[in-house]
Amino acid sequence: MDVYKERNHFFVTKTHSVIKKYSLSPVTAVAHSNIALIKYWGKRSVEYNLPAVGSISLTLDALHTKTTLQFSDTLKEDQLILNDQDATASALKRVSDFLDITAGSSDRPKAKVISENNFPTGAGLASSASGFAALALAAGKGMGQSLSDEALSRLARMGSGSAARSIYGGFSEMQLGTKDDGSEDFAVPLYDENYWDVRLLVAVTSDEKKELGSTEGMVRTTKTAPYYEHWVSSHPNDLREMRQAIAEKDFEKTGELAEHSCFKMHGLAMAAKPPILYWNAATTETIHRVWILRKSGVPAYVTIDAGPQMKILCLPESVDAVKDTLSEINGVRSVIEAKPGPGAYIMETVNETII
Ligand code: PMV
Repeated sequence: MDVYKERNHFFVTKTHSVIKKYSLSPVTAVAHSNIALIKYWGKRSVEYNLPAVGSISLTLDALHTKTTLQFSDTLKEDQLILNDQDATASALKRVSDFLDITAGSSDRPKAKVISENNFPTGAGLASSASGFAALALAAGKGMGQSLSDEALSRLARMGSGSAARSIYGGFSEMQLGTKDDGSEDFAVPLYDENYWDVRLLVAVTSDEKKELGSTEGMVRTTKTAPYYEHWVSSHPNDLREMRQAIAEKDFEKTGELAEHSCFKMHGLAMAAKPPILYWNAATTETIHRVWILRKSGVPAYVTIDAGPQMKILCLPESVDAVKDTLSEINGVRSVIEAKPGPGAYIMETVNETII
């Protein structure tokens, strides 16, 4: 590799005759987290991070990650500051590996990355989705690459499957590719954040990091859950129905399908050996309370990811009723109200150096 500095602004590398121009200025990207209405669970390749099923999600305005990245010609190792603290070795490795993938080589200038979430990290609030979408955008820009949304989504997917969807605002769909190289595995936008004013209330029931990460949970489920094949084969129909429900703005149908996909995924995970249960007592209590509320005429539906937090999908006019119910539940620590949020973007302000 041939490396030299150009007018102190760029670091230019030449690998296999591909020239890359790394910016030595900081780049900041923001991405919002998303919640799957039709869930993804299971990988057809762990190595390339290829999902076994497609998924449909809603990007949320209230939950975001802001990531600043700066390449340096003096740093010997990558550095990662996550929520004002030095990141763990495993989080740093995940980010370094991701930067290697983006660069196409581990032979690249090292970077300092500062990432902040405005919500609890690693507890089933899709911090990896917003985190890797923001990192994909910042890294691509820092490396001087001009990437399409499709390429960014594909790249973000390599960090975390759900991150592919956070490139877009509003509703998006992660497509299921057929090729082994993952070239077809990226998300596409369905409708932007102004399409349908629905609300998603996040009831935080724990600030603890989950014990079992989603990759480990998916691998175990794939290997041991007896209904896994049926989950995969019945999934295209769930996607098709959800696409139609959103197209028709049929809230009841959208909610029913989202709830069904949630329980289908968690039932499958519970049937793994040993069983995988991401819920706590407040999660279960909230499910029952939302169902009681629904019986009383308030259209509200639950969904849950790889953690104990509850997400309740409702319409704007039902927000107060849902909040009242949540306030009565022991173990619900806080409630975050989210609307459909925007896609990932670069903050064009001039950033101060972080190195
Ligand atoms: O992107 P990952 O590897 O964190 O997996 C996400 C899995 C679920 O959140 C449970 C479902 C989904 O589609 O987001």
